[in-house]
Amino acid sequence: MNKPVDLPVTAIDPDDIGYNESSNAHFSSILNARLSRRSLLRGGAASAAGALFGSLGLSACGGGGGGGGDDAATGEKLLNFNAVAWSKDDIVVVPGGYTATVLYALGDPLKGTTTDFKNDGTDADFEDRAGDHHDGMEWFGLSAADAPSTSSTNRGLLAMNHEATSNSGTKTSYFLHADGGTNSTSRPKAEVDKEMKVHGVSIVEVNRTGSTWTTKKDSTFNRRITPLTPVELDGVASGNDLLKTIYAPGGTTARGTINNCGTGKTPWATLLTGEENWNGYFVRGADTNRVDTSTIALSRYGIGKNKTSRHAWESGDTTDEYKRWILDQTAGAADTDFRNEMNTFGYIVEIDPYDKNRAIKKRTSMGRFNHESAAFSKPVAGQPLAVYMGDDVANEYIYKWVSTAVWDPLDANPVDRIATGDKYLNDGTLYAARFDLDAGGNGIGEWQALSLANPDVAAGFNGYTFANPGDVAINVRLAADAALATPMDRPEWCAVNPANGEIYFTLTNNSSRRAVPAAPPSTQKAPNAANPRTYTEGSSNGNVNGHIVRIKEDTGPASSTFTWDVYLFGAEQGADLASINLSALTKDQDFSSPDGIAFSHSTNICWIQTDDGAYTDVTNCMMLAALPGQVGDGGPTSIANTDVTGTISVDTVVGAKATSGTLKRFLVGPKDCEITGLCETPDGKALFVNIQHPGESTPFSAFGLPGNPAAYLSHWPGNAGYGAGGALARPRSATIVITKDDGGRVGS
Ligand code: FEO
Ligand code: CA
Ligand code: CA
Ligand code: CA
Repeated sequence: MNKPVDLPVTAIDPDDIGYNESSNAHFSSILNARLSRRSLLRGGAASAAGALFGSLGLSACGGGGGGGGDDAATGEKLLNFNAVAWSKDDIVVVPGGYTATVLYALGDPLKGTTTDFKNDGTDADFEDRAGDHHDGMEWFGLSAADAPSTSSTNRGLLAMNHEATSNSGTKTSYFLHADGGTNSTSRPKAEVDKEMKVHGVSIVEVNRTGSTWTTKKDSTFNRRITPLTPVELDGVASGNDLLKTIYAPGGTTARGTINNCGTGKTPWATLLTGEENWNGYFVRGADTNRVDTSTIALSRYGIGKNKTSRHAWESGDTTDEYKRWILDQTAGAADTDFRNEMNTFGYIVEIDPYDKNRAIKKRTSMGRFNHESAAFSKPVAGQPLAVYMGDDVANEYIYKWVSTAVWDPLDANPVDRIATGDKYLNDGTLYAARFDLDAGGNGIGEWQALSLANPDVAAGFNGYTFANPGDVAINVRLAADAALATPMDRPEWCAVNPANGEIYFTLTNNSSRRAVPAAPPSTQKAPNAANPRTYTEGSSNGNVNGHIVRIKEDTGPASSTFTWDVYLFGAEQGADLASINLSALTKDQDFSSPDGIAFSHSTNICWIQTDDGAYTDVTNCMMLAALPGQVGDGGPTSIANTDVTGTISVDTVVGAKATSGTLKRFLVGPKDCEITGLCETPDGKALFVNIQHPGESTPFSAFGLPGNPAAYLSHWPGNAGYGAGGALARPRSATIVITKDDGGRVGS
């Protein structure tokens, strides 16, 4: 078998470490009950692929360069490009007939008066420059009169997250500092100030002239939002005792947003940005004054005692911009210290990209966890809106927000966009997903309400009881534990298929999935129907390659029940077809660790992006184009897993196998990057994609004066002629724009 050797996952994400110690034994008992009939199910996996294209308005296409089908509206072939091969080169590769151009990279100016980025570690003033680690991104069209436009295809705003800044297990963000910075727990103020300001969000105007896209350096819309920007805490937890700090004794305001990962775009044209690994920025010492059950909540969110912080920002100075990262409780009340500061992070944050003067609001009702994207159900007049969200930590949950207000189509173009957010995102019910199988082995599930009206939640969990609804939202993981939600393999992005409303969730990987998990406080979990792989190959553990699950609501956005299947399993081509490569991926389409996912609203193509450390011995991270079918187009099956702890067979439901016409690699990125974030012009002819952290595993030893630029693991995009530095440039995260040379839609 032509099976590439697995390497251990070397770049450990903070979210690889789970904190879910709940037993949730109910899943393994259900699975054991099903083992006896698994042989019956093996024969049931015949594909219903004949139904696939009809549901998407596409017709099957057998030839023509392996195209996936014709678009019913335009006659244009989709996926009619030659698949991009694996690449380990330090470049962006796209298919022939396409062009990828760098548009907006770390440090690029956002004001006419800001100097060009020197990229030598001496640049400052990042409040007026692109931040680092470009991530989720949304397009907001602009008319010639500077008004919001849903039809503009040559002028718009890109609103994007700057999630983090590179380090390799140490404290410094070395590429930002001339000599690599201080690799210690005591950090100079100037370094900390710079590192804070590369985090957050940027909004930048972009324009197309002819076939060329550029940012507008002096646009009045350009702005940066950082961990220091004032924000409001709105929704059910606003004013809660758990949000009171010395900075905001009323618990209704806070400072900044951080580790912004995925995004969403509301039907009323605002940005939603998800705060992900915010807990990593905080330090907690012995914390001896803290003796209440907040210790349980802190541990559930990954902050035990004697926990160090990612960049030691708390050491930068003694003023409260630095002390805020210290969670230890003083002898005084909550409004005398920052014991609650971490409770002001972990939300979906709403920003009006068109109006700098409107409040930035953290939507606390939508729950506090390691947020990724936020995907809206298709708005239907008179029905509530559903927003789907994932919590990207090992064995955490999938969530759904359902608004109390029903959709009014006039709200698609409101006078006050943030007030419209107040209407749909403050009042409603948050749910967590429980996945199961019915007696026939088909995927079924229930949404568990995370409110005090649910007796399971009202009873509390693991010694923690909720004081009020705001407490439930702030500590919603404990509520979801109590409600027996299903622990998932790290839910990253989600996206709604515009063709049929089905919801796709990437589950990137999970090193804590085991056939026979150790007992709590181990955070290992047994497999379940929706997270069925635990295999071990070489030195890798758990579900190494990840998968994509999809959900079909039974009765619309407010449905309490759903059906589901696994759309695709990530795998290396050549891996065992019965236990690992269950989607039968070939070399033109194999991938590992799906992360970003988004549908084109022009072509309905599903774009899948990877953030991988398991298959990167063979290829850099990538983006694939897919024409998915629908829930149930495959069928029940059973997976025999063998890992270091034992053997277990798990029943699951796998979608129709991928074909050369329904899944094809479209892009491979430069060395040591992640591909993430995607948006498009309304005509589908310009696709914007982010290349995050090329070269991020560069060892600190590459720095120190005079330094060794040749040892940087990537030099992109300088090596492609973008900005300063040339062939030995410091690597930069950047937005690229992809266009088709014949002027057609991207992905055709
Ligand atoms: Fe920021 Fe889980 O990706
Ligand atoms: Ca991600
Ligand atoms: Ca990831
Ligand atoms: Ca990353």
